Amino acid sequence: MTDDADFEEINETKAKMDHIYNQSDPRAYFSELKKLGYAIPEVAKPVFQKLISHLHQHRSDTVRVLDLGCSYGVNAALLKHDLSMRDLYEHWGQEKLEEVACEEVVAYDQNFFSDLDQPQDIEVIGLDQAKNAIAFAEEVGLLDEGLVVNLETESLSAQEKDKLAPVNLVMSTGCVGYVTEKSFDRLLPAVSQGQPPWIANFVLRMFPFDAIEETLNERGYVTEKLEGQTFFQRRFASAKEQEHALEQLRDQDIDPTSKEADGHLLAEFYLSRPRNDVAEMPIKHLSPA
Ligand SMILES: C[S@@+](CC[C@H](N)C(=O)[O-])C[C@H]1O[C@@H](n2cnc3c(N)ncnc32)[C@H](O)[C@@H]1O
Repeated sequence: MTDDADFEEINETKAKMDHIYNQSDPRAYFSELKKLGYAIPEVAKPVFQKLISHLHQHRSDTVRVLDLGCSYGVNAALLKHDLSMRDLYEHWGQEKLEEVACEEVVAYDQNFFSDLDQPQDIEVIGLDQAKNAIAFAEEVGLLDEGLVVNLETESLSAQEKDKLAPVNLVMSTGCVGYVTEKSFDRLLPAVSQGQPPWIANFVLRMFPFDAIEETLNERGYVTEKLEGQTFFQRRFASAKEQEHALEQLRDQDIDPTSKEADGHLLAEFYLSRPRNDVAEMPIKHLSPA
């Protein structure tokens, strides 16, 4: 079992991004992450789309998604409107949005997103501790519902639990590591009031998933990793960040040769499902290759 101290220690080795997580609009977030080629929401998208399409056929016409650590509604933008990260980098990096007040960005984006088609019939609930990011994503319509909560330290209210009851799919990109098994332990009773959801996490290789897996297992979930596949998250922010990451990986007996050693942070994909659902779709069908 990993303890929080381990995750905290690993987080210390990563470039600090906290200052861009809770701004009133996403311009700084996209400007900073563009420099590092942050791509995991896009790389994850085909996997999420396959899961959504399966759940659409077998569970519900409208698939209800909970995006854990949703930030400004990044996964919602990609999945609801079929946008790419490149589209989003261009959109929030436009010259005409450079000097304007946040309210103008919100007004501009309300029109922008409402004019776009919504090919995928999903509803997205976003959960994040960053209240400004959630407020933005709700105001521009990327999130159908936003929950500002830090499940590492607090529990869900009765009202929040009600909102989470119909969730079919829990997903995350770039979030595990900030959240630990504590968050999943607090989340599970709320999302399992009806048919328990499938849980799909993209996780950096340096964050061990065992403690979350164990917590989910206690609640009847089986976790599988998509074997033999790594997913590009972003470039390292500095040689120092890379050096520390390589150290972390080697300490855990994970070989970074031709992977992180080449300059990239890489994630793996974990799918956790109620025991009886596992045979419904072999995880290898989710392989993007
Ligand atoms: C790297 S960003 C990823 C955002 C988005 N999922 C993406 O891939 O673009 C990490 C997010 O986790 C959120 N976060 C950090 N600690 C959290 C916590 N304890 N509970 C909920 N969200 C948290 C941050 O506010 C931030 O929005």
